[in-house]
Amino acid sequence: MSMIQVQVRRKSLEAQDIASFELVRPDGAPLPEFSAGSHIDVRLPDGMLRQYSLCNDDGDSRHYRIAVLRDAQSRGGSRAMHDAVGQGDLIEISPPRNHFPLVEAQRTLLFAGGIGVTPLLCMAQRLAKSGADFQLHYCVRTPDRTAFRDEIASSGFASRVGFHYDDGPADQRLDLASVLAGPGPDVHAYVCGPQGFIDHVTAAARLHGWSDEQLHVEYFQAAPLDSTGDGTFRVKVASSGNVYDVPAGRTVVQVLGEHGIDIPVSCEQGICGTCITGVLDGQCDHRDLYFTDEEKERNDRFTPCCSRAKSPLLVLDL
Ligand code: FES
Repeated sequence: MSMIQVQVRRKSLEAQDIASFELVRPDGAPLPEFSAGSHIDVRLPDGMLRQYSLCNDDGDSRHYRIAVLRDAQSRGGSRAMHDAVGQGDLIEISPPRNHFPLVEAQRTLLFAGGIGVTPLLCMAQRLAKSGADFQLHYCVRTPDRTAFRDEIASSGFASRVGFHYDDGPADQRLDLASVLAGPGPDVHAYVCGPQGFIDHVTAAARLHGWSDEQLHVEYFQAAPLDSTGDGTFRVKVASSGNVYDVPAGRTVVQVLGEHGIDIPVSCEQGICGTCITGVLDGQCDHRDLYFTDEEKERNDRFTPCCSRAKSPLLVLDL
């Protein structure tokens, strides 16, 4: 993946434990264009890659803005962004990718849980610009943890936003039953936030008759995989002809690594795409969140950090 060097033009504290970073090219040239819902990979000082949604106006690619929650549960990425990356620093990012694109709809509902507001804020700006009918429901623990609260409240689409605080009075809580009741055929919902929030909103939507095609979800941490049906399959390294067993509970990356074949990895969760490897034969069992459905369908590349095989043998382009 070709990376882009950018400079942190501004780092601001947006809310308790949430910092935003404005990124520009050091020479002032525009960055690649992006659409609402896009994310970038950011290379952290320790070399690892982390994914962050772009949360600025998608009509302006002179800069990108991301926001990062300091998360004590994380594997250190958010701490590094808060503590080791400052204004003026140069960092590397990937070009934007969009796994969470807006589709045209008669009406759009956006559900943000905490820091999950980032791609949805970009979508709200896009929908407001195009005069679309939409509503953003922003659920947060407390007002002081609400990133971009003032920006949203003073925006042109403020009347389309509901803030719902866990510590607030009952009448401002998100009433999912009434918001999701009776979905029309051309209504779409987008959900981003912690796993529990996503599960809660999507379960309620399905209960009210929403179809999978109407529900769009953005994950930045892979959902726990169900590995109960996993068995052993074999991988063949095309260049040497050597074949290796990959038992349940082990990944292709781990097995090949033991035999001196190192595949570079970063997230090891099927999110970043660092480990992508060509597949010459066999049927992939894609477990990643990186490829689009169409790309998965092609069956010519997979993410060996987490994906497996549906056929007894996969021939890898290594
Ligand atoms: S290492 Fe990130 S997708 Fe495999």
